[in-house]
Amino acid sequence: MPKVAPSILAADFAALGRDVARATEAGSDFLHIDVMDGVFVNNITMGPGTVKGIRPYSKLPFIAHLMITHPERHIKAFSDAGSDIIEVHVEAEQDLKATLRGIRDLGRKAALAVNPPTPIDRAYPHLREIDMLLVMSVNPGWGGQSFMPEVLPKIAAAKAEMKAQGSPIPVEIDGGITDVTGDLAARAGADILAAGTYVFKAKDMRAAVGRLRASGSSKD
Ligand code: DX5
Ligand code: ZN
Repeated sequence: MPKVAPSILAADFAALGRDVARATEAGSDFLHIDVMDGVFVNNITMGPGTVKGIRPYSKLPFIAHLMITHPERHIKAFSDAGSDIIEVHVEAEQDLKATLRGIRDLGRKAALAVNPPTPIDRAYPHLREIDMLLVMSVNPGWGGQSFMPEVLPKIAAAKAEMKAQGSPIPVEIDGGITDVTGDLAARAGADILAAGTYVFKAKDMRAAVGRLRASGSSKD
């Protein structure tokens, strides 16, 4: 069964602590925090101060999804603020090997994110340097976009390469995840479903998290 990582991009920013606590109590496995700088993507969201502010509201592992240029300049601040897993984009301008090593040297888990138009094999030279792979199923920048099913074959391809390299790590998928697309993603091999709108706009958050966790389970 996949794990569930609500993306607080869809939470109420005026009551973020309360919403983080709600998502935690709803049975989530992680919290996914979308960091955007208005340069790498055309939107601006949260920074390390936000991570620090919400840290007391949950004991769940925090995933900081950095959609920013020069992430290497900010990994320490996100680590110090309480991020457990730090995700950087393969497309961002950086010395990727040094950035990934820097995250691990801080005692945090490193993850690498791959945008929809980017070939998945761009991640292959780094599989041994990361603890998680993030396959984007929307072009990053905004919540509430439609899932792009054409990215799904990347999951099996990455898993085959991980096996060949002897370095199996979980694959997270992010963008447009609902019970329907979550099912497709889980059947395609996704281990962690990041979902913003579907979780935070649900009438019953616990039920929504439960439906996502049941994704891929045989209903036939
Ligand atoms: C997209 C973000 C996603 C987004 C997901 O740029 O990285 O994490 O918040 O939101 P939904 O689930 O609404 O597509
Ligand atoms: Zn994200």
